[in-house]
Amino acid sequence: MITDGNMRMRMMPDGKTLAEELHRAMKRIEGFGVRYPLGYYDTITQRYTLENVPYPYIVMQIGEARIRKHFLYSELFGKGGDLLDYGCGTGDAIRQLIRDGYPVSRITGFDVSDASLRIGYDLYLDRDEIEPLVSVAPSFPCPHERFDRVYSGSVIHVLGDERDFLEYLEKAHRTLRKGGVFFGSTLGLDDAAPGRGRDGPPRLMRKRELVESFEKTGFSEIQILQEERPELELRGLNFCLYQFCAKKGK
Ligand SMILES: C[S@@+](CC[C@H](N)C(=O)[O-])C[C@H]1O[C@@H](n2cnc3c(N)ncnc32)[C@H](O)[C@@H]1O
Repeated sequence: MITDGNMRMRMMPDGKTLAEELHRAMKRIEGFGVRYPLGYYDTITQRYTLENVPYPYIVMQIGEARIRKHFLYSELFGKGGDLLDYGCGTGDAIRQLIRDGYPVSRITGFDVSDASLRIGYDLYLDRDEIEPLVSVAPSFPCPHERFDRVYSGSVIHVLGDERDFLEYLEKAHRTLRKGGVFFGSTLGLDDAAPGRGRDGPPRLMRKRELVESFEKTGFSEIQILQEERPELELRGLNFCLYQFCAKKGK
């Protein structure tokens, strides 16, 4: 386990190793037709360790993009529009959208760091295709009313600092066109849970706290559903996964 400021995120669940999970991710990606050169698995496991992979849990989901599981995915997908993946990480949701046929010209990714993006490029061998869609900067430049959809996959729970969290929500709101939708997922606390334990990401909010924050930012028509994640309970963790969507009023 790494003990830096990001400590709670830089570990793997018991019984799992980063090397094995990178291997599994590569197997899933081969299922999409990607072919690796001989010895590439060793190259990847030497290049990526818990020292330089900021969110190792995300490796377990590469090739199984969570965006598809969102309760509004089909509906929003059908409506199209300009979509921002705000905190795109490896870029997995972007690739899923493209695989599903979303128009590439309507997709933009943004992240404050390229550390996860580089893993994505190395595993999918598609840097030339994905890099032009993505921008990386210390802070989102936030063009006003530029997007119809803002997707946020597992970003809110990493925003431990309150100001970062509020700025993130405000920018998601500001960059949406009127009538646009902010949607995604975040780990949170079940309303029945007594409190957070020692483990878990920096931010774990209850459903009502999430609703209040969205309302304060100006969002309306807020919906938050708890996704079934039996493995969290099996691992003795008292947090849950919330899927959310919220609208910027007209
Ligand atoms: C746990 S990862 C999730 C990545 C990706 N969305 C996914 O579902 O695989 C969280 C991501 O949020 C990014 N992030 C953290 N703070 C951010 C901010 N203020 N604005 C945009 N992205 C941010 C991190 O760099 C990281 O790539």
